[in-house]
Amino acid sequence: MKILAIETSCDETSAAVVEKSQGNYVIVHSNITSSSVDLHAATGGIIPERAAREQAKYMLPVIVEALTASTGENIPDLYEAKWEKASDILKNSIDAVAVTYGPGLIGSLLVGVEAAKTISFAYDKPLIPVNHLLGHLYANFIRTNDYKLDAKRYTLDALPTFPFIGLIVSGGHTDLLLYLSHTEYKWLGGTRDDAAGEALDKIGRLIGMSYPAGPEIEKRASKVNSSKFSFKSPMLHTDDLDFSFSGLKSEAQRFIHRHSETHAVRRRIPSASVNPLRSFGKLYTEPSRSVQDDKLQLDEQTKNEICFALQKAVFTVLIKKTLKAAEKYKAKSILLGGGVIANQTLINSFQSSIVNNNLSIKLFAATKSLCTDNAAMIGAYAAFHTEDNKPWEKVQANPELYFG
Ligand code: KG4
Ligand code: ZN
Repeated sequence: MKILAIETSCDETSAAVVEKSQGNYVIVHSNITSSSVDLHAATGGIIPERAAREQAKYMLPVIVEALTASTGENIPDLYEAKWEKASDILKNSIDAVAVTYGPGLIGSLLVGVEAAKTISFAYDKPLIPVNHLLGHLYANFIRTNDYKLDAKRYTLDALPTFPFIGLIVSGGHTDLLLYLSHTEYKWLGGTRDDAAGEALDKIGRLIGMSYPAGPEIEKRASKVNSSKFSFKSPMLHTDDLDFSFSGLKSEAQRFIHRHSETHAVRRRIPSASVNPLRSFGKLYTEPSRSVQDDKLQLDEQTKNEICFALQKAVFTVLIKKTLKAAEKYKAKSILLGGGVIANQTLINSFQSSIVNNNLSIKLFAATKSLCTDNAAMIGAYAAFHTEDNKPWEKVQANPELYFG
């Protein structure tokens, strides 16, 4: 069954054609993503209206590109030839359409959902609405042609087995789930305030990084082997399976103030408690008037060591609570998903902790390009949940969708 999948929950416009193989994994025929991240880098976060306008521009060309690329044929790069071919493929080779319906930014979600509904109606294809967050976990069921090159990321010879613990760590969410089967899952805990990626992005911004800061934090941290600084790993010793990262943000802010050469920097980081929706962690927030970027002076070594300490604080609690959940529920696998999982240090630390604790649990982390938002993961979830299809009139964008 070939599925055309569409993802537009935040700043990416993505379409993919995927198919479940006999071996119960998902293969990707095409996965095309257009990102407006460069626009947002300049503003330090996403301006929703701008993101949606870009998505409205790119949605159809991205779908056409994904459909035509899925055949592997050489199709002339002419507007009409491509659109005609895309229409043929839709009519004759696509069996269903899948789309992210939440959580995310309302304007962005509407672009994808309305495009998917139109295709479903016009071509009479079943429509499968997908929760973006679960899509992140299902990226682990994808096997791409080049996965052998990515041996450090996941177990090559195996597929996830149930029960599994899913950890979602993105710019808007940090959640732990227990999956008993493809259709039975339970939310175990999550962040009480900021998401892990959100904390990294906001602290990174404070030390002069552009949005999103996660990749640069990883790069800087890997330049040092230790740090003379340390940040408290939040909620490390609590009995629950929850997280909290806003305290870390404040601690880092205080620390950076102390270490700024001029001691003149006052910078307000937007707090999650005044953020109306937790899924909007990546949004641009107007900095306070007291911000004095030009006065913030940290030398390169200090910045690298701050990044190292920051990663350590965030990763230690993520790993501890995930392993705790895995032991408690006797999980056979751990599936990691979300943009922060692109971080190789996190994957390596997870794997070492499993080995050091003598746990017989298999760790899965999707190939790097499938960790950040993309349509292939939405298609992967849909491939295992084809029975979730709904009449197109019933599918609505839901920005506040969570679990349940
Ligand atoms: O899943 P995603 O693409 O979008 C959401 O659904 O939120 O995640 C984006 C987040 C950002 O916070 C970004 O800084 C973080 O993923 N990220 C990373 C890395 N690459 C992206 N964090 C740490 N290390 C990375 N290499
Ligand atoms: Zn995401």
